[in-house]
Amino acid sequence: MDIKGKTAVVTGGAAGIGAAIAEEIVNRGGKVVIVDIDIDDAQSLAQRLGDNASAMVCDVSTGANIDAMADQVWTNTGGVDIVFANAGAGATGPLLDVGEDLFDFVFTLNVKSVWLTCKAFANRMIQEDRQGYLCVTGSEHSLGLQHAGSGLYTGTKHAVLGMADVLRRELPDTIGISVLCPGLTSTRFAEGRRHSRLPPDPPQMEAFAKAVMAKGMPAADVAKATLDAIAREDFFIVTHANARAAAEKRWQEIDAAFAHQAPPEGDVDKYDVTRVIGEVSNEFK
Ligand SMILES: NC(=O)c1ccc[n+]([C@@H]2O[C@H](COP(=O)([O-])OP(=O)(O)OC[C@H]3O[C@@H](n4cnc5c(N)ncnc54)[C@H](O)[C@@H]3O)[C@@H](O)[C@H]2O)c1
Repeated sequence: MDIKGKTAVVTGGAAGIGAAIAEEIVNRGGKVVIVDIDIDDAQSLAQRLGDNASAMVCDVSTGANIDAMADQVWTNTGGVDIVFANAGAGATGPLLDVGEDLFDFVFTLNVKSVWLTCKAFANRMIQEDRQGYLCVTGSEHSLGLQHAGSGLYTGTKHAVLGMADVLRRELPDTIGISVLCPGLTSTRFAEGRRHSRLPPDPPQMEAFAKAVMAKGMPAADVAKATLDAIAREDFFIVTHANARAAAEKRWQEIDAAFAHQAPPEGDVDKYDVTRVIGEVSNEFK
């Protein structure tokens, strides 16, 4: 879908990748509603971007807020064409050490809010028989990249890819979907819990993370690649060439496991669940 003349909403649109997407939308002749928990940053960005941008406050970690926000955005704009379910944050710490509060925070923000944002807007598009597009923000962690200390975050980004992959089979033909899988991007990601009640990382750890993030790809480059890919309606949006090696390594391990443990012998389709569901559906007609 080409953004020109379209109306978009970007959650987590006040900073980082979301802000760069909002700016690129306006640069390409679209309108954008910047939705963020940080209304000051959202408003100053909207002001800088001019008449084709507006700001709305919403903490997307609560479902009722998302539905109310979607209602208000829909009423104010007359309908949305493209939705960027982008708000998200990191969570660091070994899986055997981190607490349930961090799990709940990061799965609610990175997974549940993405699902509910898609649900709120896609159902409104369907009700009004309107063409639309969804873009959910995953990560290179969705593709197979991982490192020690990122377990909760990696889990959320696999979940985002999994839901997007199923959604593309469930959505009507009138609604497209992409999953944005960026790598290291220079944003405020290292301060990702700044709006939560959870304590920040210890100062030295946060300083280290900020120094790493500062070496990332400019968010503007990620935003340009994202809108180019959405114009082509590509499902996977990849921005960092280095992430390919992680995806290949993941596939090679899977391939080797199948070769050793479940080689293609005999009737390989016998237990193919897609085929079996089709067969049983026919029996149930
Ligand atoms: N920066 C990276 O290297 C990188 C790489 C891959 C994926 N991502 C993903 O990109 C997305 C954006 O991250 P970023 O790097 O731009 O981070 P960022 O911290 O710079 O921006 C995140 C934005 O989300 C907002 N936000 C946080 N909690 C919110 C809430 N509850 N409700 C509404 N808005 C909220 C913040 O105020 C902020 O404006 C995330 O989903 C992240 O996982 C980032």
